[in-house]
Amino acid sequence: MAHVLVVGGGIAGLWTAVRATDAGHTVELVTKAELDEGNTRYAQGGIAAALFPDDSAARHAADTIAAGAGLADPGAVRVLCDEGPARVRDLIRFGVAFDRGESGLERGLEAAHSRPRILHAGGDATGAAIQAALVATVRRRAVHIDEGAMLVDLVVEGGRVAGARVLEASGAITVRRADAVVLATGGSGCLSRYTTNPAVATGDGIAAAWRAGAQLADLEFTQFHPTALAAPGTPLISEAVRGEGAVLRDAHGRRFMFDVDPRGELAPRDVVARAVWRQAIAQGGAPVLLDATALGREHLARRFPGLDAACRAAGFDWANEAVPVTPAAHYGMGGVVTDLDGRTSLPGLFAVGEVARTGVHGANRLASNSLLEAAVFADRAARALGVAPAATAPSAVTTASAATVVTTVVLTARGQLVERAALQTLMWQHVGLERDEAGLTEASATLSSWRSPEPLDRRSAEDRNLLDLARLTVDAALARRESLGAHFRSDDPLAAARHAEEAA
Ligand code: SIN
Repeated sequence: MAHVLVVGGGIAGLWTAVRATDAGHTVELVTKAELDEGNTRYAQGGIAAALFPDDSAARHAADTIAAGAGLADPGAVRVLCDEGPARVRDLIRFGVAFDRGESGLERGLEAAHSRPRILHAGGDATGAAIQAALVATVRRRAVHIDEGAMLVDLVVEGGRVAGARVLEASGAITVRRADAVVLATGGSGCLSRYTTNPAVATGDGIAAAWRAGAQLADLEFTQFHPTALAAPGTPLISEAVRGEGAVLRDAHGRRFMFDVDPRGELAPRDVVARAVWRQAIAQGGAPVLLDATALGREHLARRFPGLDAACRAAGFDWANEAVPVTPAAHYGMGGVVTDLDGRTSLPGLFAVGEVARTGVHGANRLASNSLLEAAVFADRAARALGVAPAATAPSAVTTASAATVVTTVVLTARGQLVERAALQTLMWQHVGLERDEAGLTEASATLSSWRSPEPLDRRSAEDRNLLDLARLTVDAALARRESLGAHFRSDDPLAAARHAEEAA
């Protein structure tokens, strides 16, 4: 049996800890904030799975592959969609009370799903319900949990990950040794000036894995959610609201999405996000409006109680008026390359959840597949932990042939210390919904001129990670010259045609 260090306290980390303990491993879990404070808690729309008689895993897989713009790994998608229903049933056993109607489990529709298959809990509080159930479950296990303990770097000995350097709540940096380290640290939405992510999403696991020599891929694919409320903190307004019938309007109140795509407001997320972005530019920066008034006050309050409160807190009565929305960075499709059991290219290191690049999302993640991915691959990783890698795992990890695998970045030792707000503004301006060579080159030069701080406290350790990841992301975006899914190169010779196609 192994001693396992799990880093991260969202669905991926908690699931791994529960299952690894059940398999007889000893588990310690560290998380830099409180257990509750990750992206999982904020997930609204729900979790997708083919659980209904008019649906199938094959259909869910086809939707996932279509949304992924040709880059998703079909083998990984098959695992996701085949094993998804069993993991959702596990969640129910863990105590998640998904919303039910007269005919059983309620299900919502979101963009690019050919069937309504999104389970939700508490209306729009699915992530919070899952987080609460998993926290309660993990607390019933003998998992040693340390909140306020942040991963700084991985310890590599003889080509194998043997533990991690951790900034403890006390401020000391210690080495925690383990037979296996599981990264479940989430994504890096905080690279961008506008994001739906909480402040903890600073890409700590991806950056540490890269510094340790693990293979990364697909960092150029950042998913921008089309409808964050254009208000301080850019809170997410779930795609499920459009799934229930809300529409997008321009500044004159006209619906414009059908000018862009025959699927209208339920076109894939990358298409809708770009359309919202372009529409706002076309109307001189005035925000696009999300009109949910047709859903009715009572339905909005019952189905989306959290959003109802968030809109009111921001000063909007969404039952009575259309509300201003903007795209915001939401999810990273790329990350630490893994095989189907969460193994990375570094022996002893696993990655699960958003930090991992399993290949299931390709160039654009299908809505509500992220919680599912975390559950399915955390479960598989926990089962693989006790198995000697040499016996079962090929050294090569799954890589889609078209993936941009990140290997090198030029770092400078001198220069001005990175300033987080400036980095976020730079990334939003030049590595946002549309990119081109000139902007990326300018971003690259500026990032090269900045210096990383010593990781002596949480803020400086996060800033170091953000700077590393910003550089890696820009390199990946420069390397992929063609537009694909969420990565839109406006200087791609075919981009003008694609733009016109989208507008036709
Ligand atoms: C949403 O509720 O719109 C977000 C769901 C997701 O990102 O999958």
